[in-house]
Amino acid sequence: MCGIVGYVGKSQAYPVLIEGLKKLEYRGYDSAGIALHKGNQLMVYKKEGKVSALEDFVQGKDNNSTVGIGHTRWATHGEPSDRNAHPHISNSGNIAMIHNGIIENYAQLKQELLQKGYHFNSDTDSEVLLNFIEDIQKNNACSLEEAVRIALKRVVGAYVILLLDKDSPDTIIAARKGSPLVIGIGKDAHYLGSDASPMLAYTKEVVYINDYELAIVKADELVLKNLGNEQVTPFVQKLDLELAAIEKNGYDHFMLKEIFEQPQTIFDSLRGRLDLKHEQITLSGLDKISDKLQQANRIIIVACGTSWHAGLLAEYVIEELCRINVEVEYASEFRYRNPIITDKDVIIAISQSGETADTLVAMETAKKQGATIFGLVNVVGSSIARISDAGAYTHAGPEIGVASTKAFTAQLAVLYLMALKLAEIKQTISSETYQVLFDDLAKVPKYVQWVLDTQIDSIKRIANKYMDADDFLYLGRGYNFPIALEGALKLKEISYIHAEGYPAAEMKHGPIALVDEYLPVVFVATKDSYHEKIISNMQEIKARKGQVIAVVTEGDEVVTSLTEDTIAVPRVHEIIAPILSVIPLQLLSYYIGVGRGLDVDKPRNLAKSVTVE
Ligand code: F6R
Repeated sequence: MCGIVGYVGKSQAYPVLIEGLKKLEYRGYDSAGIALHKGNQLMVYKKEGKVSALEDFVQGKDNNSTVGIGHTRWATHGEPSDRNAHPHISNSGNIAMIHNGIIENYAQLKQELLQKGYHFNSDTDSEVLLNFIEDIQKNNACSLEEAVRIALKRVVGAYVILLLDKDSPDTIIAARKGSPLVIGIGKDAHYLGSDASPMLAYTKEVVYINDYELAIVKADELVLKNLGNEQVTPFVQKLDLELAAIEKNGYDHFMLKEIFEQPQTIFDSLRGRLDLKHEQITLSGLDKISDKLQQANRIIIVACGTSWHAGLLAEYVIEELCRINVEVEYASEFRYRNPIITDKDVIIAISQSGETADTLVAMETAKKQGATIFGLVNVVGSSIARISDAGAYTHAGPEIGVASTKAFTAQLAVLYLMALKLAEIKQTISSETYQVLFDDLAKVPKYVQWVLDTQIDSIKRIANKYMDADDFLYLGRGYNFPIALEGALKLKEISYIHAEGYPAAEMKHGPIALVDEYLPVVFVATKDSYHEKIISNMQEIKARKGQVIAVVTEGDEVVTSLTEDTIAVPRVHEIIAPILSVIPLQLLSYYIGVGRGLDVDKPRNLAKSVTVE
């Protein structure tokens, strides 16, 4: 949700900024801009549209500078436009600022500033914060650094801000609360970014900035302070990430690349955790809270979107295997509805980015009430990872496509590991069931590869047949119900086709009214305990002339005789099947989106990392 970059060094800033913005574009792409220092001048270029529009705009203009900041926006306050694009310039023209986040008390601050005669060139909360900082600097006759510190004590909300001061041509000032900021340490240079991708080509040494920290960054110096003006020692970490991981590697889109990476990413999620020789599971994060978990009243899973779907499936699996009460909550609802939490509750927060504002606050709310927090996140060093009591990384690697694919299956892989491990400790499943599930889980990468190798033609044909539909229904029962929800979400995001996911049996209680000869209905119908029931649901759709598409277990003659539009997945235990069933649905959305001529990596209105509530 908005990407920010910065560079201060001895080389040209512009290429670093523009390439960095391209890497961060997944975070927002409705407008982009840069500010560069030039002697005692600030040069600002900004443009509505993607980073490429900014690049065209800057073409031929002066961009000769060694210090600069850049922003790619996902609109919150004010429509996408040139005037609302960042950087903003303060009323005096002395300060340029970019902001990722939301200033919740901006209206009150704006009122105060208007009364003092300030004017605003945009509709953004960010410009209000900038002029608020300037006003403090003016009134206190202090440095910009000091003004930022004072201002941030009054600000309610989330932010990462980067500022350039006309009078300090060698410095970037940065601060964060609630939105991510990484600073890369190069040779005679520092790089700033919402994540590490913009600096990966230059350095592997990074510092993750904490909430309420302020950085004063020069080419050869990084000073970190807290809001009390005390110096903090930067904790330098080595990045375990290669540049290739954030490139398309010959695929048309990141989404397709990431779908095809899944045999490897699921393997990576399991690697070192599934001991095939001794049939044992090691999850050090889980060990840390194992006692808590065994004595837990209940597990509460908090997450949003696709991660919430992973949580929903985990509820089915953990309750079945571990006999622990699990509740799954939309983080955005949980945080505001005064939930009853005790120190006997364990919270599992699931998040690809580790920065989702609602999930972060939901876990903080529970933590304050004594719950133990386990974070399941993909992005190493992210906020959720850092405030969890214990956790596990999903190890899916950087996910750039805005629609989540490989992060979802990695989340499922780790949640399965957790459930199996806990069931083993609690002795709530037989050794035979443990063995079957363990073996199937270990083979998931191979099975996913089989789907990718053998089913593409059927999926493309089905995508082609139905890509002009206006609506889709996705139905599943039991373990496949969360997959129906995920299939529908993926299609909505990528193709802008209205799609709903429902429990197959619930369909009779309303959505069946939608069924006619134009409605494609996707059944997630792998062989499980409810197989006959879901076949009856298919008959009900067919009787009303609906078009049935089915994800089936390989060799399922019964469903195949009901519809020609089937996509097969290998036969596995019904608990493991969903991690396979979702693969065809990801691909179906992808090919429908591409067929409709859409930018599947950057669907309209979306952003990868939702750092505002
Ligand atoms: C869907 C999607 C979103 C995210 C949601 C949570 O494809 O990407 O629904 O799953 O915004 O994001 P994280 O997992 O980063 O907390």
